[in-house]
Amino acid sequence: MARKVLAGNWKMHKTRGEARAFVEAFLPLIEPLAADRLVILCGPYTCLDILSANAGPYAVGAQNVHWENSGAYTGEIAPVMLTELGVLYAIVGHSERRQYFNETDATVNRRLKAAQAHDLTPILCVGESEALRLAGQTESHIRFQLDHDLKDIDLDRLIVAYEPIWAIGTGKTCAPVEANRIIGLIREHVGQANLPVLYGGSCNPGNIDAIMAQDKIDGVLVGGASLEVQSFARIVNFE
Ligand code: G3P
Repeated sequence: MARKVLAGNWKMHKTRGEARAFVEAFLPLIEPLAADRLVILCGPYTCLDILSANAGPYAVGAQNVHWENSGAYTGEIAPVMLTELGVLYAIVGHSERRQYFNETDATVNRRLKAAQAHDLTPILCVGESEALRLAGQTESHIRFQLDHDLKDIDLDRLIVAYEPIWAIGTGKTCAPVEANRIIGLIREHVGQANLPVLYGGSCNPGNIDAIMAQDKIDGVLVGGASLEVQSFARIVNFE
């Protein structure tokens, strides 16, 4: 039985000391971890070694990965720089990178390929804006992203996260039944029955049980609520 994925995306939060304190307080709250769960902590690059040093009940992820292993790419990070730190997962194509850092479907595809070439399991983020949703273009937009992002990608070593942009950081969560419908469409469009597909967008202790009760949702990718130990532990320990 596939494990449910509870991933935390810390974004640009947590110093090394804060990461150390988080892990110290977090581990007792989730151990012993239920066998049907996979916890992934995606911290900033500067604390990945701290996260890896205490990994076991959880795995370590990065928030991005470049398609080259070295080069004149200021501010980027190479796959080998992550794997040498014990990183196993990498978020790719997050909407914030598409919005603020000119990430395109073409560069997302290159990053996905590089991640898989270096034994990193990518977590591909897709999702629509408020404008696209209101225009009834949610499905067509997500199909476009999947078709272009997943060219020649190994579907057996991939996680997808459906993150409606209008739900990220807003406190507005996509209704679990609707998220379940979209995630079902994603899995059907990709054509991979066992593809893990997560939901992301204002997940919190108050809605995690309803989200995880949905039959097509395989887990969550959590931003704000993953920064606070008690909140994320409650999400990990969903009922
Ligand atoms: O990658 C997960 C993130 O985008 C969701 O953020 O704060 O709405 O949980 P948040």
